[in-house]
Amino acid sequence: MDTQERSWAFDQPVSSPFARPEGLLGRLAGVIMRRTNRRDQQEVLGLLDIRPGQDVLEVGYGPGALVRLLAERTRAARILGVDPSGEMRAAAAKLNRAAVAAGRVDLRTGTAADTGLPDQSADVVVSVNNVAIWPDLNAGLRELHRVLRPGGTLLIAWHGGAGATRLARSLRLPEDKLTHLNDALATTFTQATRHRLSTLDAFTATR
Ligand SMILES: C[S@@+](CC[C@H](N)C(=O)[O-])C[C@H]1O[C@@H](n2cnc3c(N)ncnc32)[C@H](O)[C@@H]1O
Repeated sequence: MDTQERSWAFDQPVSSPFARPEGLLGRLAGVIMRRTNRRDQQEVLGLLDIRPGQDVLEVGYGPGALVRLLAERTRAARILGVDPSGEMRAAAAKLNRAAVAAGRVDLRTGTAADTGLPDQSADVVVSVNNVAIWPDLNAGLRELHRVLRPGGTLLIAWHGGAGATRLARSLRLPEDKLTHLNDALATTFTQATRHRLSTLDAFTATR
């Protein structure tokens, strides 16, 4: 992945090991993320309404904590994941070893703008603490629209919300970027809705 790629939200190259987990530092960032983003994963699970037999895709799964919650706490048929980092793929596969071996969890290399998945392959697409590091917001949204089935749900969340933690407060997006994200969602999807969680600003939309 191009380390000079700029974020659409911050308009600067994305180089932190949390956004580009590579090598030893990247593995360490994965361990830290698993710990610090725990509440985020719980909040997202509470907002998602996953019905038995549905296929779920997580974009930017990092160390795989939400994948594990989805596997353990829902009756989704299949949990697919894409993330560009080989280090995160290895960490998430280790955390979800049994579900990967059983074929219920499928962790792949890919990005929001290029998932490598067939058209209409998921009922629910979820992406947490990921959207602000995409280089091209509209390219990502177009791709996630393509892989969602008609009537399917997209949930995108980023640090912020009511700012219940220092991390959430320090990484929140400015209001104009949140408005831009909501407007972009409303252009590509229907029923774009903003949710203020305790540590996340979240958006849901329907294909
Ligand atoms: C800050 S971590 C968040 C991980 C996890 N979702 C969480 O909340 O703990 C960001 C993750 O996004 C991945 N990533 C970076 N660029 C991406 C892109 N363009 N599309 C999808 N994932 C990306 C990184 O490899 C990393 O695993």
